[in-house]
Amino acid sequence: MIKFPSSKDNLSHQEILNSLRELYGEAFYVFDIEQLRKNYSSLFTSFKSRYDKITVGYSYKTNYVPALIKELSSLGAYAEVVSRLEYDLALKIGVNSEDIIFNGPFKKYEDIALALDGNSIINLDSFYEIGKVKRYLNENPQSQVKVGLRVSFDLTVDGDNPLQNKYEQSRFGFCVENGSFENAISELQSEPNIKIVGLHGHFSTSTRSVNVYRKITQKLCDLAKMYVADTLEYIDVGGGFYGNVPKSISTQDVPSFDDYANAICSIMNKEKVHFTEDPLLIIEPGLALVVDTFKFYCVVMDVKKNQNDYFVLVKGSVHNIKPTMHTKNMPMAHVKKSTGIYQHEKFNVVGYTCMEKDYLAIDHAGDLPVPGDFLIFNNVGAYTIVFDPPFIKERPPIIVQDGKKFELARKREKLNDIINDELYVF
Ligand SMILES: Cc1ncc(COP(=O)(O)O)c(C=O)c1O
Repeated sequence: MIKFPSSKDNLSHQEILNSLRELYGEAFYVFDIEQLRKNYSSLFTSFKSRYDKITVGYSYKTNYVPALIKELSSLGAYAEVVSRLEYDLALKIGVNSEDIIFNGPFKKYEDIALALDGNSIINLDSFYEIGKVKRYLNENPQSQVKVGLRVSFDLTVDGDNPLQNKYEQSRFGFCVENGSFENAISELQSEPNIKIVGLHGHFSTSTRSVNVYRKITQKLCDLAKMYVADTLEYIDVGGGFYGNVPKSISTQDVPSFDDYANAICSIMNKEKVHFTEDPLLIIEPGLALVVDTFKFYCVVMDVKKNQNDYFVLVKGSVHNIKPTMHTKNMPMAHVKKSTGIYQHEKFNVVGYTCMEKDYLAIDHAGDLPVPGDFLIFNNVGAYTIVFDPPFIKERPPIIVQDGKKFELARKREKLNDIINDELYVF
């Protein structure tokens, strides 16, 4: 760990970066753990102040760096997982099995048995999973099990279907409109040892709008009233909330946590009287908690001109900041190595790979960097680390920043971490 003592309070950004560069190399992520605490507290307070029975299940797939998930767990977040790998990771960092929410479309019998043995919250996605729960009861006839169902329904809001990629329906969960949901309820309710305790409605939308959550919450409450009023313990509205996303990369209004909480909690407060006990409200944020907690730092290696365009080559790649390779420029800062005079130009920032499309920024206007400067890309905390492949080069280290303390969260990779002697056959 390095700690910049208070006597060095006035170290310049450039001096701090030079120390980090000496220790960790020319490309690294900095994870701002204080920002994570702020995000969690602000999201949690928005909901808790409006509806008391609230649980935040952090979506592991969004970014499962151990330093990050351990911090969220210590703040009180449950682990929302969608695979056995993520389930085992939650256990490995010390999460109680009761504090794990197991979602996702693919669970093997052993995974379901483990989750049921551990009293995890488990949301079933389709009939083949119901079959596995029944098999568990055949093998454990004394058990009483609790399950939730992921629900799929027409999400059209104000005449528009907001699903990602303009899909007409979600591929997840039990469909209400074609009767699958009702059939699943009947099948489960005919088993005396199974209790349906929850309904889950996560939808990935392109709008992330408040109206989407009004629709989801109301629909889940209506279905719960109709089918499982006596057994309901939770309503899980899923994730998909906007976080601190800068205007330059969002295409629409970004609701605040209070806006989401207002919409969802007012429905929960109106509907809770219909249930034997006030249902627990579960939210499953991913992006909203972590998007602004990671920055990617990379050194400029070269600047050249091809035809009339400037290309700034950095010790990084598009994979490090936007693995989906969308063409919007991420917020970028420039830390200069010297106070010399810089030319104002339009330039592209390009990566070390051999892909033509390896652009970290396109047509950016500003001071043209020189080799040795740092470029810093903000808002790279969601779906970046987990999608970053060791393509061509090892992945950069991750440093946790807690105030003036800097500590490693992931070391610099070496050949053997990628082409592991125990994994590959030589
Ligand atoms: C079931 C479930 N919950 C939560 C999330 C988190 O979504 P987001 O990062 O958009 O909040 C996802 C993401 O796809 C998901 O599939």
